[in-house]
Amino acid sequence: MLKGKKIVVGVSGSIAAYKTAFLVRLLVKEGALVKVVMTKAAEDFVTPVSLSVLSNHPVTSDLISGNEWNNHVHLGRWADIMVIAPLSCNTLAKMANGICDNPLMAVYLSATCTVLAAPAMDEDMWKHPSTKINIEKIKSFGNLVMPVQFGELASGLVGEGRMAEPEAIVAYIQNFFTAKTELKNKKIIITAGPTYEALDPVRFIGNHSSGKMGVAIAQEARNRGANVVLILGPTNYPHDLTGLKVVKVQSAAQMYTAAVKAFKTAEIAIMSAAVADYTPVAVAREKIKKKEGALELQLVKTKDILKQLGQIKTKQQFLVGFALETNNEKEYALKKLKEKNADLIVLNSLNDKNAVFGADLNSITIFDRQQQEYQYTQKSKDAVAKDILDLIVKKKYNL
Ligand code: CTP
Repeated sequence: MLKGKKIVVGVSGSIAAYKTAFLVRLLVKEGALVKVVMTKAAEDFVTPVSLSVLSNHPVTSDLISGNEWNNHVHLGRWADIMVIAPLSCNTLAKMANGICDNPLMAVYLSATCTVLAAPAMDEDMWKHPSTKINIEKIKSFGNLVMPVQFGELASGLVGEGRMAEPEAIVAYIQNFFTAKTELKNKKIIITAGPTYEALDPVRFIGNHSSGKMGVAIAQEARNRGANVVLILGPTNYPHDLTGLKVVKVQSAAQMYTAAVKAFKTAEIAIMSAAVADYTPVAVAREKIKKKEGALELQLVKTKDILKQLGQIKTKQQFLVGFALETNNEKEYALKKLKEKNADLIVLNSLNDKNAVFGADLNSITIFDRQQQEYQYTQKSKDAVAKDILDLIVKKKYNL
């Protein structure tokens, strides 16, 4: 699958570097041409000789070998993709600040290709505010960052910070090269996650949405070349938001404002958020104290974002809504499609016990304006995202 692809693997100092030997082996097995550049710190964890044998190429670990200067610019331009695995906290900080004190950094700074980084560090380092800032910074430069894994760490603690497994990195790279590009430069807006409607300074009315489905659609659209604006409600789930323009919102009203604004220049809008239908009439300024008897809350309807976009949509724009029903599913879904002037409605059935909130699986049925029904089997949310985008592309662009 990676036949002839030129890949530079950058290795920095972390215990996870021993896994890079396996990563290099897998890449070579897939047919890739692999050249390795490593830092001195990485040599404490894996030897240049092992990586040179596995990659069938000499390994660069010095800017000068003997009297010769190693041409890092050449290596940076040679690659179709550069993969930095593991990415240590130190190398991350150098990438964020453009510090060039070793060959890995020199190749990174001269690379004209996409750079993918797979961080590895202890949980406390991973969660440090400076790490977060640096990760966001390197993403903003256009680098791709693989999510870290949860599990046993070098410190003996268990937590977040493990490097993605070599198989997952290879799959990511394969996807990078084979991804469809039919949405290249098309602007797509996606709402995802729950909304929180504040009652007082400490309480809110919310729901269980994790945002997984909407984020999976956003990731798939990004993989197909789209410029994605993801309007994301409050969720603690550690989503991979690499390459997405994310607008974080809390309430239905904030989501409405962000969506209406972003929709003006978008070609496609996909409303997958679980937006609150009602919000408190007023937010109490101070914490509501408990009293004798029942507490009555007065709620008013929120503005319906999907319906509003349906009203302002032009002929060139394509609108997709979601419906979550427990009974009369088809009838209600079609009613929603018509009332909200959507082009497609994606029905999630709550009768499906393994699917929906927080789950990794989902089973959907999609209806179009001609009332045609598209049924899909239960799949991972990533696979469902592909099905949804395939149908959108077919309907919108006739591809
Ligand atoms: N939606 C929205 N803005 C709202 C409420 C919902 O954009 N204020 C969108 C959702 O993102 C989803 C679709 O509308 O795409 C869901 O339709 P909705 O009528 O809200 O369905 P339910 O919440 O299930 O409500 P009900 O069935 O009670 O009408």
